[in-house]
Amino acid sequence: MKKTKVGIVGMGVPGRRGGEGLIDIFRETGRAQVIAVCDVVEGCAKQVSQEKNIPYWFQDYEKMLKLKELDLIVVRTDDKNHAPISLATLDSGKDVLVEKPMYSIRGISEVRY
Ligand SMILES: NC(=O)c1ccc[n+]([C@@H]2O[C@H](COP(=O)([O-])OP(=O)(O)OC[C@H]3O[C@@H](n4cnc5c(N)ncnc54)[C@H](O)[C@@H]3O)[C@@H](O)[C@H]2O)c1
Repeated sequence: MKKTKVGIVGMGVPGRRGGEGLIDIFRETGRAQVIAVCDVVEGCAKQVSQEKNIPYWFQDYEKMLKLKELDLIVVRTDDKNHAPISLATLDSGKDVLVEKPMYSIRGISEVRY
């Protein structure tokens, strides 16, 4: 069975990096594999990719969305970025899994899917 190729946006602050935990959870399913990580904080995604043996890392999620082999993007940034990143992901043709909440008062007007 083909494994779902996953990218995660938002690693979390050092000491409680929830994004790293997700890498292990996906791996343990045997059905999905995290192949890309992204965080705006300089050096963060690179460090996680090296520690967790993830092939691709990005600081800009829009560059990550150009990676053709990705099937699913997990959005786990702070809440205000959930809507724009989720909508850009859907526009790129990939599936999205977003940590609650999906919307903010400002972002809800943009939700169209
Ligand atoms: N902390 C929890 O226990 C918990 C549980 C369930 C759900 N959540 C949800 O997960 C999300 C993240 O929570 P957290 O506590 O890990 O927050 P956090 O602030 O620790 O982590 C968010 C990360 O996103 C990164 N980020 C922000 N904007 C970005 C962008 N444009 N591109 C790439 N990276 C960006 C930040 O640099 C940071 O590393 C929240 O929406 C929260 O509701 C958190």
